[in-house]
Amino acid sequence: MSAVLNSTPAVEAIAASGLTKVFGEGEARMTAVDGVDFVAHFGEMVFLVGPSGSGKTTFLSMISGILRPDTGTVKVKGVDIWTLDADALSDFRLNTIGFVFQDFHLFARLTTAENVAIPLILKERNWNEAIGEAQKCLSIVGLGGRGEILPIKLSGGEQQRVAIARAIVGSPEILILDEPTASLDGDTGKMIISFVKSQVLNGQRCILIVTHDARINEFADRIVHMEDGHIRTQSEGTE
Ligand SMILES: Nc1ncnc2c1ncn2[C@@H]1O[C@H](COP(=O)(O)OP(=O)(O)OP(=O)(O)O)[C@@H](O)[C@H]1O
Ligand SMILES: [Mg+2]
Repeated sequence: MSAVLNSTPAVEAIAASGLTKVFGEGEARMTAVDGVDFVAHFGEMVFLVGPSGSGKTTFLSMISGILRPDTGTVKVKGVDIWTLDADALSDFRLNTIGFVFQDFHLFARLTTAENVAIPLILKERNWNEAIGEAQKCLSIVGLGGRGEILPIKLSGGEQQRVAIARAIVGSPEILILDEPTASLDGDTGKMIISFVKSQVLNGQRCILIVTHDARINEFADRIVHMEDGHIRTQSEGTE
């Protein structure tokens, strides 16, 4: 009885309801995401799969505070993020969510370590400390010792790993990765996803990954299928 009285209801990491996004007008009008409901919990690593153009990136952008939905709500840790003003939303994102963009979004004029350190610098951490943390994260993704060079000197897969290092640098509770292994060979992809997976095991984090990469399916706790802007089916992972 006391256990019941003492327990607080678990806050869902992500709870989206009726999410819709329409692009274009007239004949070009298309519904990229169409009334999607979705929940993910702490301690869970969820994969989102589906054909190209099915709305995966649009959906991720809305649940992570990057793209405002036309209708629907997004709660992250219980906070209704699209009711926040722009400053509060950026602070919330900075403190809560690590995001890997499908096309990396690295700053060309910053070194790889500076790129990775950006979230910490924005949180006003001491510069040297932030660069030190960034170097550690670069080592985790197999790029130790490459912190001083510019992203243009790196291969596509290496740039992708810099983007992953930047997403994990502040140990955010929620990690959202859009095709994080698309440019990586099988072993490197598995190594990185295995590290990311180790981050959910204590139940403190929630990780959502969009992927076409069946080589990493074994790491999923749950696989969600998206098609034509709808979530069609959900299945348990293969692990
Ligand atoms: N900014 C935009 N303006 C107009 N249409 C867009 C925009 N962003 C996405 N779309 C359209 O919305 C649909 C869904 O795109 P989205 O990028 O979400 O798909 P996806 O599932 O991530 O595809 P992929 O697997 O190729 O990355 C596509 O038809 C796309 O053309
Ligand atoms: Mg996409």
